[in-house]
Amino acid sequence: MRTLRRSTHEVLICADPAELAREATRRFAEMAEAFTNDAGRFTVALSGGSTPKAMFQLLAEKPFAGALPWRSIYFFWGDERCVPPDHADSNFRMANETLLSKVPIPSENILRIPAEDKDHHCAAANYSETLQSFFAEERPSLDLVFLGMGADGHTASLFPGTTALCAGDRIAVANYVDKFRSWRITLTADSINRARNIIFLVAGADKAPALKEVIEGPRNPELYPSQLIEPFYGTLLWMIDEAAASLLK
Ligand code: 6PG
Repeated sequence: MRTLRRSTHEVLICADPAELAREATRRFAEMAEAFTNDAGRFTVALSGGSTPKAMFQLLAEKPFAGALPWRSIYFFWGDERCVPPDHADSNFRMANETLLSKVPIPSENILRIPAEDKDHHCAAANYSETLQSFFAEERPSLDLVFLGMGADGHTASLFPGTTALCAGDRIAVANYVDKFRSWRITLTADSINRARNIIFLVAGADKAPALKEVIEGPRNPELYPSQLIEPFYGTLLWMIDEAAASLLK
């Protein structure tokens, strides 16, 4: 494991996806303890895709499954596909099957995106309302947001050239993604950037070209939306494996 420190973020390079999952699990557990001790709760948004799966599986095993303060941890999502929660493409389903159904967490602590709602804009408005009422007066500011990155430089469901890239200070929006000919519900860059901690989990050589552009390339968030992730006051950590880091200076 090695670290590259930059003025605005840190890049932690793990040997392989297994080490990445172990280190992400360790940091999740550390933050869960710290926030629940300090603030009585820990609010975390999960990402979808395949990369976080190994971390979810580790959290559902000893020692974490029996040791973490699950009653004080609240789960949200960064984005969701517009499918029912039991659909194979559902980000909620993946997290539920690999983690949430295996640990003693109250169902009311799981605040999933109601993306099955046929009215996508209504689903996004409902989720924004859920977040706003959970955080009461303040603008929603999650303690930790996990993000992935696609080989095209997208994150959450902020895809290149889509309307969600210009969502201003809205909390969550519906976003039509042409290449999938489907809708997604996603947190906006503004609400992600209000988080206290943001962690990107990125693995695989197929991500290396986009990762180089996102981290070291000229600013072009329309083409590389992951560049929109710049926390207003929190921390930004890129946790990547050697294969994904292969083109970085
Ligand atoms: C989704 C995600 C998306 C994901 C990236 C990376 O719903 O698909 O939230 O942003 O994180 O596409 O996906 P992989 O981890 O599968 O490479």
